[in-house]
Amino acid sequence: MSIYQELVQSIVVNKKNRLIDFHPSMQLVGTGRSAFVFRIKFSNKAMKVFFSNFEHIAKEEAEIYLSLKDIQYFPRIYEAGANYLVMDYVEGNTLFDCLTNGRLITEAHIEEIDYALSLATDAGLNPSDIHLRNILITPDNRVKLIDVARYRQKKDCKQWSNLKKAHRQFYQKRFFWKKVPSSFLIGVAFLYKKGLIPSYRL
Ligand SMILES: Nc1ncnc2c1ncn2[C@@H]1O[C@H](COP(=O)(O)OP(=O)(O)O)[C@@H](O)[C@H]1O
Ligand SMILES: [Mg+2]
Repeated sequence: MSIYQELVQSIVVNKKNRLIDFHPSMQLVGTGRSAFVFRIKFSNKAMKVFFSNFEHIAKEEAEIYLSLKDIQYFPRIYEAGANYLVMDYVEGNTLFDCLTNGRLITEAHIEEIDYALSLATDAGLNPSDIHLRNILITPDNRVKLIDVARYRQKKDCKQWSNLKKAHRQFYQKRFFWKKVPSSFLIGVAFLYKKGLIPSYRL
């Protein structure tokens, strides 16, 4: 059994998908809609462990990360199991964190994200699910993209073009706050997903 499999087995989750316990060499760094993500302490590796009803995504996401392995804007993958992935740990802030902490998101960041996505498109993928929590800015101000599970879907994803539009129409304006409460962002995301924001259609 690999060391990573042992670490996965240390994770205890209750029936409501609440994390109860895990090995002390792991640090929880994120919880998404489908998985918990841990940093392996004292290493540059992260482990994404899927909730039991999302385990099938592990294989799909592993294959997609493999097809992106030569693109520096994506973490490299080291091991994939039935319900987990081991990849580079990305140090930095998600765009969501940047907005709530007041870290500036510049036009240069937006252009770099655009470029990273164009490389994924050139690799034959259809970048999807591109939202604030799936994009990180590193301490040296570079961009990294994570959560590529939906990059092979056929349907067009409008999220990134909408985010760019919001950056241009609101964020870049002098009147717009550069630090916003997380409850505000969560509220906007809720309305957006319901299709209730005029001219920001899904
Ligand atoms: N490689 C990584 N390095 C650092 N943090 C990560 C990494 N992968 C994911 N995260 C953190 O964990 C969160 C959830 O991961 P994600 O892959 O987006 O899961 P989900 O598919 O459930 O949305 C992310 O929003 C991010 O904060
Ligand atoms: Mg995600």
